[in-house]
Amino acid sequence: MGALFSFVVVILLILIAYVGVAAVGMQSIFGTVVPYAAVLIFIVGVVYRVIKWGKSPVPFPITTTGGQQKSLPWIKQAKLDNPSGSAGVIGRMALEILLFRSLFRNSKSELRDGRLAYGSAKWLWLAAIAFHWSFLIVLLRHIRLFATPIPSFVSLLENLDGFLQIGAPRLYLTGVILLLAVTYLLLRRFYVPQVRYISLASDYFPVFLIVAIASTGILMRYFFKVDIVSVKELAMGLVSFNPTIPAGIGSIFYIHVFLVSILFAYFPFSKLMHAGGVYLSPTRNLANNSRAVRHVNPWDYPVKVHTYDEYENEFREKMINAGIPVEHSPAITPEEEEKLTEPTDDAEIPVGKE
Ligand code: HEM
Repeated sequence: MGALFSFVVVILLILIAYVGVAAVGMQSIFGTVVPYAAVLIFIVGVVYRVIKWGKSPVPFPITTTGGQQKSLPWIKQAKLDNPSGSAGVIGRMALEILLFRSLFRNSKSELRDGRLAYGSAKWLWLAAIAFHWSFLIVLLRHIRLFATPIPSFVSLLENLDGFLQIGAPRLYLTGVILLLAVTYLLLRRFYVPQVRYISLASDYFPVFLIVAIASTGILMRYFFKVDIVSVKELAMGLVSFNPTIPAGIGSIFYIHVFLVSILFAYFPFSKLMHAGGVYLSPTRNLANNSRAVRHVNPWDYPVKVHTYDEYENEFREKMINAGIPVEHSPAITPEEEEKLTEPTDDAEIPVGKE
């Protein structure tokens, strides 16, 4: 249901851009107003969410650990899984962000002959890492449309990415890997029952959207070619705040840019914000030094307590009368003391003083 809904929404978005440009001629809306609005929403939305997260109180190091904490010298510490200082935390964060280490350690559990068995599960990691890295490289390669002269690292990326030298224009591997990986991630949601069960429209929508963005990009580069000089003119106009709409750019370009704009505007309000959230995750970015350093909750206020002594003072008589043992004997008056010191047979020994 969520999948169908998301699919229909993405198809509608494609139609809106197509009709808007090809039939109504709203190139300037789809080529300037929409991308500007999307980038604005993206920036404001991301800043808002990061500030909100940043303000969340984290009074203690709430680390999740997968190894031995720093302890006595002869006990081997798991420095990456349970870092006790900044260097370890940086190592853990870098491996998480660049290589998705926790996903690499993903395992699957299943019943085999009636017994619970655990096994390695690396396909999700492989598809996820292929998807994210190729997305990043595709995005960086797009800088050539927005910068003159083209930065040398972008040309380097293009050369590496197109090293197979297949076709004209040259085939970029990352564009294809991006599409394949995101398709795998989509199919996994369809065909793995457990994943399908927990998948919502908000899981399918970004995947369909990215499939559509990569597909329109590939169609535009290799099949329905667009005039790349005019595209660059438009893109340069956007970044120099001097927008122009050159004539003759095919509708597929506007569809591509419209879908990208929707992705950008949707980003801050969706699960896609994990891209920013991972840096702010206290279970990843805090050193586990809870044995070495005393962490005091900064909001601790003096709590009004009623100690046992105060309690007993209040209820001692009633306790004695009820036969409940008390810790301290009743306060003794001087007369009582005098009476107590007289050597009589029936001298009362105060409870608790035996
Ligand atoms: C999330 C952002 C974006 C993604 C994921 C994306 C993805 C892609 C992909 C996969 C291709 C196929 C060729 C390749 O591998 O490079 C492509 C091509 C293209 N994209 Fe994008 N794109 C994005 C943003 C944009 C933006 C903002 C523009 C606006 C200028 C744009 C304009 C183009 C053009 C003109 C091509 C054809 C390039 C050529 O003919 O060499 N894309 N895009």
